[in-house]
Amino acid sequence: MIISRTSIEFAHGYFKGNINTIVEVGVASGNHAKEMMQVLNPKLFYLVDCYRKKKGEQLDRRTMAYKAVIENIKFDNRFKLIEDFSHIACKQVPNELDLAYIDAEHDYDNVKRDIACWYPKVRTGGVLCGHDWAERGVRTAVQQAFPIINPSTPKEKRVGWGLEFYENKNADWWIVKMFNEKE
Ligand SMILES: C[S@@+](CC[C@H](N)C(=O)[O-])C[C@H]1O[C@@H](n2cnc3c(N)ncnc32)[C@H](O)[C@@H]1O
Repeated sequence: MIISRTSIEFAHGYFKGNINTIVEVGVASGNHAKEMMQVLNPKLFYLVDCYRKKKGEQLDRRTMAYKAVIENIKFDNRFKLIEDFSHIACKQVPNELDLAYIDAEHDYDNVKRDIACWYPKVRTGGVLCGHDWAERGVRTAVQQAFPIINPSTPKEKRVGWGLEFYENKNADWWIVKMFNEKE
């Protein structure tokens, strides 16, 4: 089994096959979503991507990605594709997610908004994670949302505030939601 992203490798060990509902925000052709499905084997997998809704010079590429994802997911009805913007699509996805993987735009404002949209939808004990920790916008937004996170803190000490965080070699990041701040 191929596990190319370290947050998914972590989730594989953490959930041990006991996983119901997950989401990937920013899906493109769906190759990584297919891998997540194989590795995590959730009962329900929401795929969120704005594809053709986003106007602009990359429309052709997005249309191709849209066609590719349809091809990639058509034989598995556990996939639920929502073609919309992240902040709109999150209203259609149920709460109590086991895992949300964020990989849409990578600039600070968009990552900040994606965290604000999706973290509340993750259940206590669930995982919020994403790609491209190496990107400055991603790093800043993640560290700001979770101030306890400080990459210079030794890994074993990065527990507190209800959060666990690990940066990693493969540019993924992830956080275990240890409690619901609203409770
Ligand atoms: C980096 S690609 C995703 C790659 C995919 N996760 C993978 O690992 O193969 C980013 C995708 O996010 C989508 N996207 C960008 N902004 C978005 C937004 N605001 N809401 C939803 N999707 C968005 C783009 O259409 C693009 O397909």
